[in-house]
Amino acid sequence: MKKLIYLDNAATSFPKPPRVLEAMTRFMTEVGANPGRAGHRLAKEAERIVWHTRESLARLFHIAKPERIVFSLNVTEAINTVLLGVLKAGDHVVTTAMDHNAVLRPLEFMRKKGHVSVDIVPCDRQGFLDLDVLKQCLKKNTALVAVNHASNVCGTLQDIRAIKGIIGEIPLLVDTAQTAGCVPIDVERDGIDFLAFTGHKGLLGPQGTGGVYIREGLSVRPLKRGGTGSVSESLDQPDFLPDALESGTQNNVGIAGLGAGVDYLLERGVADIMKHEQALTAALLKKIRHLPGISVYGPLDATRQTATLSLTFDSILPDGEDQSLGGCGAINLAWMEEGRDPGEIGALLNDSFDILVRAGLHCAPLAHKVLGTFPEGTIRLSMGVFNTLEEVALVAEAIQRIVEGAP
Ligand SMILES: Cc1ncc(COP(=O)(O)O)c(C=O)c1O
Repeated sequence: MKKLIYLDNAATSFPKPPRVLEAMTRFMTEVGANPGRAGHRLAKEAERIVWHTRESLARLFHIAKPERIVFSLNVTEAINTVLLGVLKAGDHVVTTAMDHNAVLRPLEFMRKKGHVSVDIVPCDRQGFLDLDVLKQCLKKNTALVAVNHASNVCGTLQDIRAIKGIIGEIPLLVDTAQTAGCVPIDVERDGIDFLAFTGHKGLLGPQGTGGVYIREGLSVRPLKRGGTGSVSESLDQPDFLPDALESGTQNNVGIAGLGAGVDYLLERGVADIMKHEQALTAALLKKIRHLPGISVYGPLDATRQTATLSLTFDSILPDGEDQSLGGCGAINLAWMEEGRDPGEIGALLNDSFDILVRAGLHCAPLAHKVLGTFPEGTIRLSMGVFNTLEEVALVAEAIQRIVEGAP
């Protein structure tokens, strides 16, 4: 059987390290109990496993107190927890045009309700945030700045430290969906006040896991209230973390798997993973960026992006045109209409080449407006820690064959 090439790691990473499955199987077959809800030994073991995951995440992100990490179902829930739990009526929020709907939709909902005002900072054609405009957007009532660490469309990495340098005391929420586990993150060095993460992408855990780190001194109103296994005599929600924000039984089997995924990362080292992914990105860029008939979007520089590339098949764009557009192959919509539909190419890669990619808008419509690829979207190739240079060569060959008219 022909081997599948999985290039949809920006949606969810696959495969997972075997130890992730082993940890989940062990939880289900040998532990199974509810952590913090009883004193018996299986409940204690479940508690130890959940705490171990919290500690491993704390080591990964250089967080001094693991209890400042609260688990959630995914980064979307983590982001909602912060936006809805921090912002008050009359507050102003700043976000970016490269952000995901996980940030943009809750903010739009709150804005339409008249609860908050929102500024969306523009980005250049490669997806980089305009830091001067960011500075100009800040107001007396700016209560939060929410930024995507890396674009899930074209991989552009924002300079988080520089952003914090500009916003100063204003709390910074970073969506690390595309960087946690792939790019070294240090909440102290980078000045991150709220770090929202998802467990099933670069952290190599299962779907249905995620969470948020909350800097000491900052408080978040809970989205939900209920049983926590602590201070049960009181009808009031506990006011200490993580219990304040972790009501009800969590996805503990998932958290067990997530812990094993993070331990894999800690052993191998995120810097080493980043190096591997940069090598894959550089190799793929080298092979495809100058192919006539395609446009590649984003920084086109493995050191300034994650291992996610977006492209369109535009027969009109002359070879080398990307250079004259500031390193970004973005073209105008009139040209794009002449190109081939991203969905059609995605299906072709899937059906004829066994290469699994995602086509469309990737839940980030404003990012496509930045790149000039709205509303058709792009074909996204997102590589992960288990992809290889051999696979990159096969993918480049397939793209070349499609450009030449295959199948
Ligand atoms: C940048 C970014 N933010 C948020 C999300 C939402 O992730 P999840 O579905 O795990 O909540 C994604 C994933 O698609 C993403 O890439």
